[in-house]
Amino acid sequence: MDNLTPVKKLELGCWPTPLQELTNMGRILGNGKRLFLKRDDLCGVGLGGNKVRKLEYILAEALEQGCDCVVTGGGSRSNQPIAAAACANRVGLSAYLVMPERTGVVPRYLAQQLGAVILPVEAGESGTVPKVVRQTAKALREQGRKPYLIPPGASSVHGVLGYSDAMKELYGQAAEMGLKIDHVICCGGTGNTYAGVVLGTKLYSPSTSATAISIGRRFCHKTPCAKWQRRLSAVWEPQPR
Ligand SMILES: Cc1ncc(COP(=O)(O)O)c(C=O)c1O
Repeated sequence: MDNLTPVKKLELGCWPTPLQELTNMGRILGNGKRLFLKRDDLCGVGLGGNKVRKLEYILAEALEQGCDCVVTGGGSRSNQPIAAAACANRVGLSAYLVMPERTGVVPRYLAQQLGAVILPVEAGESGTVPKVVRQTAKALREQGRKPYLIPPGASSVHGVLGYSDAMKELYGQAAEMGLKIDHVICCGGTGNTYAGVVLGTKLYSPSTSATAISIGRRFCHKTPCAKWQRRLSAVWEPQPR
């Protein structure tokens, strides 16, 4: 652990994002507690969302490796391709996005306006999008380009760091507002965001508990957390607070 080089990060979003109280929902669902929403949708890049914090680390690595474009893909309702197109555009990288044909007109239009090249696929079987991502990267390399592959969901060790940073921001904000957060709930897809939420909570507010609610597939929080923790410990160690 002594020889780890600091992990680089870009600043692409407008931070901190607001911490907004949901007064009506709190009255209905709060069971006596106040409810707050961390508005990462308002982070000021593309349509916002959880991918921008992840991409701040991922694109720093892409630039450091001398890449000239990114290749990525996502499901028809994923917020990742648009976030990738917006962030890549900001740092001067071109973006190749593999998207199922059934993706709506609006996300496609936005991605194109952000300068991305869209590669529509008939995504019947699972695995089609990643396969076309790999094929596209290979074709770009053959043309002399240097592509960086952004994994599905922008889920990598960098994503964990992005959401650990988000928790540092959240607990700092809460302290300034005189709030003590006793529970954080996030959405879980690959579990990468949640692994960052857990890490940041352990580091910056150990008495808070954290829960993920899965968007679909069965999701066991221990498996993704253990996986990301293992991968992260090879490249990163916590800095003093
Ligand atoms: C806004 C938002 N939060 C969280 C998640 C979950 O992300 P992860 O794949 O890191 O679990 C998603 C994924 O679709 C998302 O769109």
